[in-house]
Amino acid sequence: MLFTRSFLTLLSLVALVAADPLISRHVLHEKRAHTPAGWARSRKHDAAAVLPLRIGLTQSNMDRLEEMLLEVSDPDSPSFGKHWNAGKVAQTFKPSDETVSTVHEWLKTSGIHPSRIRLTKAKTWIEVNATVEEAEQLLQTEYHVYTHESGKEHVACDAYHVPEHVSKHVDIIMPSIHFDAVIKRDGASSHTLSNIGQPGVGLTPKTTGTISDLLTQLENCDQQITPICLRALYNFVYIPVATSKNSYGIVEYTPQAYLQSDLDMFFTNFSKGQVGQSPKVVSIDGGYAQTEYTGFGYNGESDLDLQYGMALVNPQPVTLYQTGDMVEGASFNNFLDAIDGSYCTFEGGDDPYNDATYPDPYGGYEGPEDCGTTKPAYVISTSYAYNEADLSPAYAARQCAEYAKLGLMGTTVLYSSGDNGVAGNSGVCLNADGACTQSSSATGFNPSFPGTCPYITSVGATQVVAGHSVYQPESACMEVIYSGGGFSNYFAMPSYQQSAVQHYLAAYPPPYSASQYNATGKSRAFPDLSANGANYVVAVDGQFELVFGTSASSPVMGAILTAINDARLALGKGPIGFINPTIYSAGFTGAFNDITNGTNPGCGTPGFSAEPGWDPVTGLGTPNFAKLLARWLLLP
Ligand SMILES: *[C@@H]1O[C@H](CO)[C@@H](O)[C@H](O)[C@H]1NC(C)=O
Ligand SMILES: *[C@@H]1O[C@H](CO)[C@@H](O)[C@H](O)[C@H]1NC(C)=O
Ligand SMILES: *[C@@H]1O[C@H](CO)[C@@H](O)[C@H](O)[C@H]1NC(C)=O
Ligand SMILES: *[C@@H]1O[C@H](CO)[C@@H](O)[C@H](O)[C@H]1NC(C)=O
Repeated sequence: MLFTRSFLTLLSLVALVAADPLISRHVLHEKRAHTPAGWARSRKHDAAAVLPLRIGLTQSNMDRLEEMLLEVSDPDSPSFGKHWNAGKVAQTFKPSDETVSTVHEWLKTSGIHPSRIRLTKAKTWIEVNATVEEAEQLLQTEYHVYTHESGKEHVACDAYHVPEHVSKHVDIIMPSIHFDAVIKRDGASSHTLSNIGQPGVGLTPKTTGTISDLLTQLENCDQQITPICLRALYNFVYIPVATSKNSYGIVEYTPQAYLQSDLDMFFTNFSKGQVGQSPKVVSIDGGYAQTEYTGFGYNGESDLDLQYGMALVNPQPVTLYQTGDMVEGASFNNFLDAIDGSYCTFEGGDDPYNDATYPDPYGGYEGPEDCGTTKPAYVISTSYAYNEADLSPAYAARQCAEYAKLGLMGTTVLYSSGDNGVAGNSGVCLNADGACTQSSSATGFNPSFPGTCPYITSVGATQVVAGHSVYQPESACMEVIYSGGGFSNYFAMPSYQQSAVQHYLAAYPPPYSASQYNATGKSRAFPDLSANGANYVVAVDGQFELVFGTSASSPVMGAILTAINDARLALGKGPIGFINPTIYSAGFTGAFNDITNGTNPGCGTPGFSAEPGWDPVTGLGTPNFAKLLARWLLLP
């Protein structure tokens, strides 16, 4: 009897517990499938150690993000071109009061005194310094110390849990399963270019060496690309007139840096009036064009991007976002923090493990982190990328959403699609373990990020085939580099590209299995378009070199879109903003040069093939400036 009664009491207690949302059961929140290459678990973390626990709160209205972005960027929408200001963006997506209080209550009832709980100024993160023991209880996990081959240590867990009722209010918790991005360096003296944290390691442009004879005639564009070749290829004759209203930004990550002497050498031969001209440098987190280290690995990317970016939009000034100091470098998130104050927090870095922290605790830049300190340019080109599999889905999704916000504000964001065809940076592919591990002998296609983010415009590479003229169709680039392209394993297919991609899959079914690529036909496909990426004549360290890469394609595309913005601004219209819904629309059919020859080999295969219409090698094709301009001028 007594036994039964206490059993009943127990039952009612259980019912009570289940009904009380404050103590609902924990559910899995994020799980890492593998330990990244180079890292090994070395020991359980000390229970008394303190972790700077940061809880990323779910933003409001994220389920409507794509719809809102399409409203201002779909040419058929009545609100096309009605871009938002930064205040409206911040207001629309800031976490709800309910989200803030639910997470706060959870911490409090778990025994964390409210005085230890801090909400960041932008109200997007909750921070608490928790002991490992406390964090392990809160998240029902175990923290371990991992050691990198380089000797660096990192604290992480394999998976973590949060109470069921809290789950929908939490986006991501740091430190937890994440390993990506910046690997802190020992100091300037020991810094190397091979640190895996730099975006785009393995994706620097390639050079085949110095050129002895400059070939400057249009007949030679199959051997050397110079600005006149690009103007002829893309029907691009335009002199900007609205330069004071317009802007074009190129992003570089220190230690990558341009040399003024290289710009001048290039301008002397290809754009005389620009000798002595420099980009407008916006320094982010201590970034500066360092001259301490030189060589193609340090100057190749920046020299390429700026020589072509500046020459093609002259007299429009180009803004250089030089990001990160010499010690820590920086990640894409650090750049995004600088151009959008609501993205960053009030005390540096989105996450001290993934992103560089400023002031630099390792002895570099001692100023505060840049946070909303500069306005985004109308077109921003970046020739750096990660492999999607380097990043966790939640981390990638959070960053991808930020690109959508830039689109809402009228900025066009371009990223190069990668130089290894269907393989990732450095040619690595995905192992068949379904766990995102990568190796050079693997066979799973390895898409690039942010290429796979549906809210950026991904730019692939083409080339003038040897013996062909600029008046013949280009092919997918198959010299030195292969155009990055394929299908995301993280992001669903956006509506704007559905009919184009489905046409490709139906008309030219790829001869690969679902174990090689995401064959569901439901994932984001890239690139969106392309431009020449082979045989660029670039002045690097006082010599002309022949350079290859989607690294070239992106700034050239950016220059062409900047000219379109110029013409629109001159007529009192707004910038073109997020272009994907427009370029895939019926009204733009025929405005690109369709590329139908070549493939993008990788992972032991010939890759996908370029075909009529959109394809996962060259996207919709290369720009025909005159046609694009005419169509964009017809839009409101
Ligand atoms: C956590 O500790 C660090 C270092 O002592 C301190 O600077 C920071 O303000 C603390 N953060 C919180 C949320 O208490
Ligand atoms: C490039 O410029 C240098 C310096 O003015 C000049 O000597 C050289 O002839 C130029 N080369 C070509 C092919 O125009
Ligand atoms: C394919 O992409 C979809 C949409 O992003 C995703 O839900 C699915 O998990 C992906 N499949 C594989 C095998 O990666
Ligand atoms: C197609 O590309 C291949 C490889 O670059 C090239 O050899 C061939 O001439 C191209 N064909 C055409 C029609 O452009």
